[in-house]
Amino acid sequence: MTVRNILIHPDPRLRKCCERVDEITPELRNLADDMLQTMYDAPGIGLAAPQIGELRRLIVMDCAEEPNAQPSPVVLFNPETVWNSEEVETRDEGCLSIPEQFAEVQRPAEVRVRWEDLDGRPREEKFDGLWARCVQHEIDHLNGRLFVDYLTPLKRQMITRKMVKLKRERARA
Ligand code: NI
Repeated sequence: MTVRNILIHPDPRLRKCCERVDEITPELRNLADDMLQTMYDAPGIGLAAPQIGELRRLIVMDCAEEPNAQPSPVVLFNPETVWNSEEVETRDEGCLSIPEQFAEVQRPAEVRVRWEDLDGRPREEKFDGLWARCVQHEIDHLNGRLFVDYLTPLKRQMITRKMVKLKRERARA
């Protein structure tokens, strides 16, 4: 397993619509392992493949909330929302590709998601709370969408400018 480099916004690869995965090959299982390792190392609660430059429909999550909770890694290939609640919820959201920036985003409180697991088996589950928030954020990544897209243009520009500066500093270091 390898900790991979996380792309920082703005980056054209974070704006692409990712390709469906047809067959879950050993290479894709390794990619899922790398993504989990990268997510835990960051640390974060979710990561989408395009964030490490792999334009495939694959996300990983672990939203176990209690401080001493057992790790609960979930790997989702080709995830799609098949239902969302009318009830919405506003929560502070962040992103490993937009470090240290947080803003309130409104999304459906619950979603039902269909995906394929590591063995290629079809799965379907309803998510709520932090899991619902995270899975919607990660599926957005597969469609080239970032949480800053839900903010006002002014707020988005402010955050984007900070990220450009951060990337410049990191390139110099
Ligand atoms: Ni993100």
